[in-house]
Amino acid sequence: MSTLQERFDALSKRNAKAEAGGGEDRVAKHHAKGKLTARERMLRFFDEGTFVEMDKFVTHQCQNFGMEKMKFLGDGVVTGFGKVNGRHVYAYAQDFTVIGGSMSLTMANKICKVMDAALKNGAPFVGFNDSGGARIQEGVGSLAGYANIFHRNVMGSGVIPQISAIIGTCAGGAVYSPALTDFIFMVDGSSHMFITGPKVIKSVTNEDVTMDNLGGAMVHNQTSGVAHFATANDEECIDEIKNLLSYLPSNNLEDPPFVPSSDPVDRKLTEINETVPDNPNKGYDMKTIISSMVDDGQFYEVHKHYALNIIVGFARMGGNVVGIVANQPTNLAGCLDVNASMKGARFIRFCDAFNVPIVTLEDVPGYLPGTNQEYAGIIKHGAKLIYAYSEATVPKITVITRKAYGGAYCVMSSKHLRGDLNLAYPTAEIAVMGPQGAVDIIFAKEIKKAKDEKAARQEKISEYSERFANPYQAAELGYIDEVIMPEDTRIRIIQGLEALKNKRDTNPPRKHGNIPL
Ligand code: HXC
Repeated sequence: MSTLQERFDALSKRNAKAEAGGGEDRVAKHHAKGKLTARERMLRFFDEGTFVEMDKFVTHQCQNFGMEKMKFLGDGVVTGFGKVNGRHVYAYAQDFTVIGGSMSLTMANKICKVMDAALKNGAPFVGFNDSGGARIQEGVGSLAGYANIFHRNVMGSGVIPQISAIIGTCAGGAVYSPALTDFIFMVDGSSHMFITGPKVIKSVTNEDVTMDNLGGAMVHNQTSGVAHFATANDEECIDEIKNLLSYLPSNNLEDPPFVPSSDPVDRKLTEINETVPDNPNKGYDMKTIISSMVDDGQFYEVHKHYALNIIVGFARMGGNVVGIVANQPTNLAGCLDVNASMKGARFIRFCDAFNVPIVTLEDVPGYLPGTNQEYAGIIKHGAKLIYAYSEATVPKITVITRKAYGGAYCVMSSKHLRGDLNLAYPTAEIAVMGPQGAVDIIFAKEIKKAKDEKAARQEKISEYSERFANPYQAAELGYIDEVIMPEDTRIRIIQGLEALKNKRDTNPPRKHGNIPL
């Protein structure tokens, strides 16, 4: 019979064994790559002293290929819950030092247990992914495990925020759960995500590609748009996830956390009165307006490296979290293309699911024309943005800073898609299209007949501009609620947010809509 002390010692020993992960050598190799171990990641992520680990002694049940002799306590994943910025969060971190962080059925069961708890308790769910994919020795057991996780990702979608860090090389099934979550973070230089690695690609398609060029952080942040954030190292990645969580409610029944600010709500933004240039063909940086209008100039940009013609991200105004969607005239003149439409629509749907009011800053000459865009499906992808704005029932405030032409006028949270407060600067131009293009179509015959074609065209352009290159026709029809000076942007938006605080709006009962995918 063991003494009490012997029993306590046995527990300490078992804990130490579990905490050793794949052993000293593998941990040293992992550290040498500049990476933190799974447990180090969890300890940095959670507020000090709050992390509670679950299933620390669980082991896999696989008997194939000698696996019965290759057992590690915890089976390659650290799971549990704790507090982040004082609020409960559930999380897992895969341990690459244990069988490459590969997914066993046991590992999946551990992850599913915390996912179920997160959903039941209305808490965000965060995954630190560092895994070679399905554990090959387990066969269908590991695939079943993945599918169990995917199903929970889908059931939790729109109910609790789900965030994934790709914090190592993630292959196969290891990338599909992240793809089902709301936001993906990557670490530049040390994280990769792909469905199959360079060796398999070489054997199947004979293509030579490096890990970085196939699925590095910048590939997925800039080119594919799969990832939303690129960070410099593990530490920054973890800290940025905590930062993002500070803008999000714990679940879809809560409002985002209010953070009082000393930034006066009635601060005049005189510095942006002349940001929109006189010349409608000249660009300007919409971020100047964003950072001027939000609390303390703090803008948490999402998808910063992708589709630069649209800007999305979180900020606070008068202490309340808002989701900002803004056209960027410095890139493609702010035109909406396939990528911008998808980026905007996904962000809007997140905001709507999690009670984040949407503030739209609009300066867009239209959808980007051309065969590239048509072949890429701008019609169906552009429709996503209409769909997302239209179905959103959170407070929607729009400020037209300059161009609101054609379809883009309709799309960008117009009155007709249930915009709650639609404002415009005196520089706004609201029309079916820009003056030059319009004149060349509707006055083509008249101009051709004129003695001096150039002068006649110019006269028509002036006439058209006088009629439409302003916000007043829309204001006369009540489609613009107020024409404001740029310096009043902050106070008007905050007044609007306060007035809309108790907004209730619903969509017709249905199983679900059918967004054009
Ligand atoms: C079992 C694995 C494994 C896996 C890695 N390991 N991946 N064990 N199943 N999927 C083990 C290795 O055998 C090795 O064990 C240890 O983990 C570290 O792996 P290395 O290859 O030495 O590391 P590295 O050189 O850094 O390369 C990492 C890697 C590579 C690029 C991830 O391991 C790799 O290509 N793995 C396979 C990736 C893959 O194709 N996965 C898809 C599985 S199919 P030792 O004992 O030597 O340390 C899938 C389908 C799911 O996931 C579909 C759902 C939709």
